[in-house]
Amino acid sequence: MLAISSTDRVFILTGAGVSAESGIPTFRGENGLWGNYRIEEVASPHAWTRDPRLVWQFYSMRRRAASAARPNPAHCALAKLGQRLGDRLFLCTQNVDNLDEQAGSNNVIHMHGELFKSRCDTCSRPPFEDSKLYEPPAALPLCECGGRIRPHICWFGEVPFELDRIFGALEECTLFMAVGTSGVVEPAASFVAHVIGHARTIYVGADEPANLLAFTERHWGKAGEVLPQLFAQLS
Ligand code: APR
Repeated sequence: MLAISSTDRVFILTGAGVSAESGIPTFRGENGLWGNYRIEEVASPHAWTRDPRLVWQFYSMRRRAASAARPNPAHCALAKLGQRLGDRLFLCTQNVDNLDEQAGSNNVIHMHGELFKSRCDTCSRPPFEDSKLYEPPAALPLCECGGRIRPHICWFGEVPFELDRIFGALEECTLFMAVGTSGVVEPAASFVAHVIGHARTIYVGADEPANLLAFTERHWGKAGEVLPQLFAQLS
């Protein structure tokens, strides 16, 4: 069980491993997305310029899979922790699904974007809710300005969202936990390095992440099994 004091400020970073038990494939695990798709063809600005139809086919496939998924006990444990800690919890996810929100979490920071939102690739119209599938023969969506509508996702080579708020919370936190992330994608993989010296560092996951040495505490196993136990005395 995890001891969290009444003054602790908790920063939790989650990755694809947290949604794996909901049936959403991870990226680098067995049968992971990047084993079946080439990043440079579906998840980069270059891919969007070269073949927006292929990009929308990829994200339509992901929208279909995510809309069939439901929160698992890991999402529920995080939502309960949020109700308990209020603004002393900063929940930052690399995931683009909305399972945290379905489980009842508020103020989730989606640093890599949101699957069920789209935005214009030309004008400054804010991202909008969009769960449509854009697959042949459907026409690709256009904005009133004439620009193309793209998924509201942070692609490789793009700057993640909300970095100012994220680094502010990293500075303030006294407990940093990463859950279900392989620790290979920056800048998220280096967040733990920013807190060493002023926060406890805890890893929860099925396998060793690439940045394992930065964590002083480790809990091995599936997030849906480990998180409810870890937070048990808090509920
Ligand atoms: N519970 C806990 N951890 C799990 C589980 C589970 N049920 N299943 C898998 N894992 C772990 C794996 O061991 C692996 O370390 O989750 C991790 C998932 O790693 P990745 O597939 O690399 O996903 P992630 O770290 O979230 O990827 C980061 O990379 O592709 C980009 O933008 C994409 O946000 C993504 C980023």
